[in-house]
Amino acid sequence: MIALACDHTGIELKKEMMKLLDSMGLEWKDFGTDTAISCDYPVYGYRAAKAVASGECDRGILICGTGIGISIAANKVKGIRCALCGDVFSAKATREHNDANILALGARVTGPGLALEIVKAFLETPFSNDERHIRRIKQIED
Ligand code: RB5
Repeated sequence: MIALACDHTGIELKKEMMKLLDSMGLEWKDFGTDTAISCDYPVYGYRAAKAVASGECDRGILICGTGIGISIAANKVKGIRCALCGDVFSAKATREHNDANILALGARVTGPGLALEIVKAFLETPFSNDERHIRRIKQIED
């Protein structure tokens, strides 16, 4: 189950994500917002991050204008490793090295074509399980 959330800037891109996840046969749960009315990204980022941290959802995809604010908010939730990515290399690397469990995207920064490729890379890349990466993630948790 993939948690989705966005602020008012990310409505259209989130719809693209829903279509992509459907085509990949992945279930998703939408934590809002669902209108283009200006709203506060921490509210929605927090809801989705809590769902990932609790195990209700396996991964999350968050969208705001830059991806910055919503990723900062998500990373306040214990157990969340949210990575803001604007390229495919980073999306793969953050899965392999950081075992990131949430991806953040900037709807005003990253076009839909690239964003979909980033999401695919994020969802399809496994954690490396390398000892050094496990050690570093543990250091973050501690
Ligand atoms: C909304 O105007 C904008 O501040 C928000 O989407 C995001 O970019 C914050 O980091």
